[in-house]
Amino acid sequence: MAVEAAVERTGPGGGRPPVIRTVGLTKRYPKAPVMAVDGLDLEVYAGEFFGLLGPNGAGKTTTIGMLATRVVPTGGKAYVGDIDVVAQPALAKQVIAVVTQQNTLDRSLTVWENLYYHGLLFGISAGRSRELADESLERFSLSRWAASPVGNLSGGMAQRLLVARAIMHRPAVLFLDEPTAGLDPQSRLALWEILAGLIADGQTIVLTTHNMEEADQLCDRVAIIDHGKILALDTPEALKQGVGADTIVTVLASGDHEALAARLTRDIEGAVRTRLVDGGVELQIQGDERLLPRVVASTERGGFELVDLSIVRSSLETVFISLTGKELRE
Ligand SMILES: Nc1ncnc2c1ncn2[C@@H]1O[C@H](COP(=O)(O)OP(=O)(O)OP(=O)(O)O)[C@@H](O)[C@H]1O
Ligand SMILES: [Mg+2]
Repeated sequence: MAVEAAVERTGPGGGRPPVIRTVGLTKRYPKAPVMAVDGLDLEVYAGEFFGLLGPNGAGKTTTIGMLATRVVPTGGKAYVGDIDVVAQPALAKQVIAVVTQQNTLDRSLTVWENLYYHGLLFGISAGRSRELADESLERFSLSRWAASPVGNLSGGMAQRLLVARAIMHRPAVLFLDEPTAGLDPQSRLALWEILAGLIADGQTIVLTTHNMEEADQLCDRVAIIDHGKILALDTPEALKQGVGADTIVTVLASGDHEALAARLTRDIEGAVRTRLVDGGVELQIQGDERLLPRVVASTERGGFELVDLSIVRSSLETVFISLTGKELRE
């Protein structure tokens, strides 16, 4: 009994019921040749920062769309808490929030009014909506823009306001669809900090991204998806360990790259796999002891002329490549 309880606590949900649960969730758009989302099974727990990481067209927006009642599934089930999002969409909408890839701020209103009227829309009293609007602007460092038209905000500030507005009614889950796409690095960091703060306050967040660094830095668990299917789901650390390689060396050289790949695989101890890239070979390796001298020696002994050499730690990008044979961004 005690052992069972302990085992349960060690799972991702620690024995808690999931906030989000999908069972075989599927979407095929009318006349589309392929499934946009294909039998998705996942659970997201309270307080979790959960990431859906995948390339363009992987099915990220469609997945969030179904969970947020914007897209009707063609198969399977999706629940937010006990609420079946297809059977009870109005109820589901009350307990979730979505920030989509579009700027949906009301351009005829000021920054403050965008928050205030959102509060009223969700049945919050006028007095409380006023308080919440003030508090949110403070928290998201937007107070000095309160009376400005939203059109005056930068991309990063508009994104912060969208998040502030989304969480006003204290949703059980906040969905963010590629929240930092198109933001400059500074605005991206500012938003990451805000999201980390929300998580610290207990907010459950589901985020989509095709930015592996974002998924790695922010998320407790990440589902890597492609063609509507989950290829792997775990903590970023476990995903990276699962690849079995901790270092990636890219060798750019003249000559027959297949022969170079074969040679490096033979010569370099710990080489887990190779992949041909533009102008050379990428080598995934476990262990990095005296790696570069060994790679240089092997390449040159084989009669290849070395053009360039680079070395990086393996990342979620490596995980994606090892799962699909292609890069996240193509
Ligand atoms: N309204 C639609 N009608 C038909 N097909 C669609 C529609 N929306 C998406 N698709 C298709 O469904 C698949 C999944 O698209 P989706 O937008 O969910 O991917 P995504 O992972 O969000 O991609 P991105 O990174 O580009 O935002 C793609 O093949 C896309 O072309
Ligand atoms: Mg999308």
